[in-house]
Amino acid sequence: MSIVYRPLRREEIPQAAELFIVAVSELARRHGLQSASYLQPAVETLYAHLFETGVFHVAQDGESIVAICCGVVRDQLWFLSMFWVLPDQRVSGLGRPLLEQVTAEARARGARTLCTWSSIDFVAVASYLRLGMMPAGPVLTFSGACADQPAAPHGVEEKELRADVACALDAIVRGTPRPLDHAFFRARQGSATQLERQGKAIAYFYVSEGVIGPAAWLEPDDAPLVLAAALREARRQQPDKVRLMIPGVNQPALTAALAAGLQLSGAAHFMTRGPFGRLGQYLPSGPGLF
Ligand SMILES: CC(C)(COP(=O)(O)OP(=O)(O)OC[C@H]1O[C@@H](n2cnc3c(N)ncnc32)[C@H](O)[C@@H]1OP(=O)(O)O)[C@@H](O)C(=O)NCCC(=O)NCCS
Repeated sequence: MSIVYRPLRREEIPQAAELFIVAVSELARRHGLQSASYLQPAVETLYAHLFETGVFHVAQDGESIVAICCGVVRDQLWFLSMFWVLPDQRVSGLGRPLLEQVTAEARARGARTLCTWSSIDFVAVASYLRLGMMPAGPVLTFSGACADQPAAPHGVEEKELRADVACALDAIVRGTPRPLDHAFFRARQGSATQLERQGKAIAYFYVSEGVIGPAAWLEPDDAPLVLAAALREARRQQPDKVRLMIPGVNQPALTAALAAGLQLSGAAHFMTRGPFGRLGQYLPSGPGLF
């Protein structure tokens, strides 16, 4: 049967989400890792956002979708969100043409910097290296019970996050304001906070069901107080199930996660072709939108 490469159709979002859950579980098993607990409804919600605001293609074999690849263009930035082939068809030449097609579409939409959150899978890492995306350090996941509550930060006010503030901070820290994604983050359950010092917004952070991210701050020295405020909120939401993902260059965040009693529970690679922004002043939301 010949493979057809084409855009995903809206009614196929549940099928694409299912393929992801099967593939990510197999990846964890193959590497002897704890399986990430992705739930179908949450994945479908993310995939609907990627479908509506990004590029989302599939490989079809007969009646079945056997591979997915998608991402978002935000100004000059292309973030590759998902690239998965059904486990029993991996490394048989299916994925590469799909990745190339989606990347070409991203470039046609104006993307200049290509970046992704790569799993530890060697085939995935090699595929991204081939596209010129170079490793820019690990992304480490910390999770578990937040045993030690950080002290409340001094000298800052916590307020409900305003969309224009989130976008202005992201324009500096991420290199794109991405209002579409902030609307998505705001629609989730949980909190969205901006920190102000003397009336000036210096940071934002989201916490949803104990999961911190995204978060961004303007000055490197403010990392400890942003982490303290975010960890306190995460602990309030889910005392036993806090999670955050930290770029390896973000050393104050790594220190804060360990001090709070969280366990290192996952590792991935951030890879980029072109300048990305300030990874040391940022916590990603996850592999979907970074
Ligand atoms: C990553 C993935 C989507 C790639 O799709 P695929 O269909 O397996 O890839 P292809 O067979 O088209 O291409 C793989 C290429 O990598 C090469 N390759 C495989 N292992 C390699 C290695 N260790 N080092 C260098 N190159 C390698 C293959 O030779 C092939 O090259 P070719 O196109 O020149 O023949 C798929 O393997 C997968 O689903 N992996 C597990 C899930 C995952 O980690 N996804 C990434 C999430 S970020």
